[in-house]
Amino acid sequence: MPNNGMDDVVAAETVLSDVDGSAGRLILRGYSLDDLAGVARYEDMLSILLAGFFPDLPDEKRLPAALGATRRDVAALIRTDDAALPPIEAVRAMMARIPDGEDCETALKLIAAPAVFTAAVLRLRRGLAPLAPDESATHAADILRMIEGATPGPERVAALDAYLVTVSDHGLNASTFAARVVASTRAGLTSAVLAAISALKGPLHGGAPGPVLDALDSIGAPDRAEEWLESAVAQGERLMGFGHRVYRVRDPRADALKAALARLARSGGVDLSRVALAEAVERAALTLLKRKKPDRPLDTNVEFYTALLLEALNMPRDAFTCVFAMGRVGGWIAHAREQVLNGRLIRPKSRYIGPIPKEAA
Ligand code: SDX
Repeated sequence: MPNNGMDDVVAAETVLSDVDGSAGRLILRGYSLDDLAGVARYEDMLSILLAGFFPDLPDEKRLPAALGATRRDVAALIRTDDAALPPIEAVRAMMARIPDGEDCETALKLIAAPAVFTAAVLRLRRGLAPLAPDESATHAADILRMIEGATPGPERVAALDAYLVTVSDHGLNASTFAARVVASTRAGLTSAVLAAISALKGPLHGGAPGPVLDALDSIGAPDRAEEWLESAVAQGERLMGFGHRVYRVRDPRADALKAALARLARSGGVDLSRVALAEAVERAALTLLKRKKPDRPLDTNVEFYTALLLEALNMPRDAFTCVFAMGRVGGWIAHAREQVLNGRLIRPKSRYIGPIPKEAA
């Protein structure tokens, strides 16, 4: 059976991120995740990720205002009828109206778009008009305000910034690889990002955080965790929020996001009984997976505490993938540009195992 998951295949050289699966370490353009999560705003992360890829990229002092102005511009692309789709599909449909290009202006539109469109979709489906972006606000603050209609507290803004920074880039995950493949044909940044969003929505990739909460809801109490998890695994189900193609130890982002949740909890913004249930479920799941799959290390991945953090930020669970896209879009664009500037058309080989026509035999 061919290695059709491309496990351990090195398909690109990149300056953007290093995912060390055995050490459980993530480096983003020379910075350790711990130096960034909970410290940098998302705009700062964008300056780091996009440095060198656009000659006219606004410097870190001007980038927040440039992104704010672009949020205002892309709001013109909101379509009410798209809002009837599932949130990630509605966001994808609206983003498809951003003309393709390789320039910084197109990049900023693609970065602004998931934030503006997700907020619009969540309000339209509640019968409310979308709120116009506030170009003077930071990206995370404006996201929360556009969704909720009120100015968010600094702790909640900091929690969303920590999330967006933590998920901004992560090597050649499926959605980023999809972005690089499309970018390598010179199709343009919009096409690359649309391909990435389509990959992200899969439950094995970016579609996992919502089902983490569904599992917590079904389990209901710490003393029911073991029985529920045992039954799920016995039926061949995957425990959402656990396992990873690269990490053979705990995903470092799990602790970065758990720390963000703890900081938010200090301001009273978190249901601590929910965290206690999640910790009990996590302990039971890790014990079970160790017993059931002894030769396959399966540890907590980024999605487990993502789910609790986004729930604490009052994000609807069917929009979690949209929030993931709000952060990862910076990485998708940086990788797409790296592929265009330094790479070639991506075209691997395959081995034909089908029938051979008689005359050719
Ligand atoms: C993300 O690549 C990235 O960087 C992705 C990401 C990013 O930032 O972009 O980190 C984001 O996608 C995180 C992962 C989110 N998905 C989930 O939490 C869904 C649950 N996890 C699994 O589906 C799974 O762990 C994957 C998809 C994440 C990785 O699976 P692999 O590497 O393809 O491993 P596999 O399917 O070959 O499984 C190996 C074994 C199997 O057992 P056997 O059939 O050989 O007996 O481990 C088992 C699997 O059944 N297994 C699990 C499991 N994950 C793997 N069993 C129970 N629960 C799980 N979560």
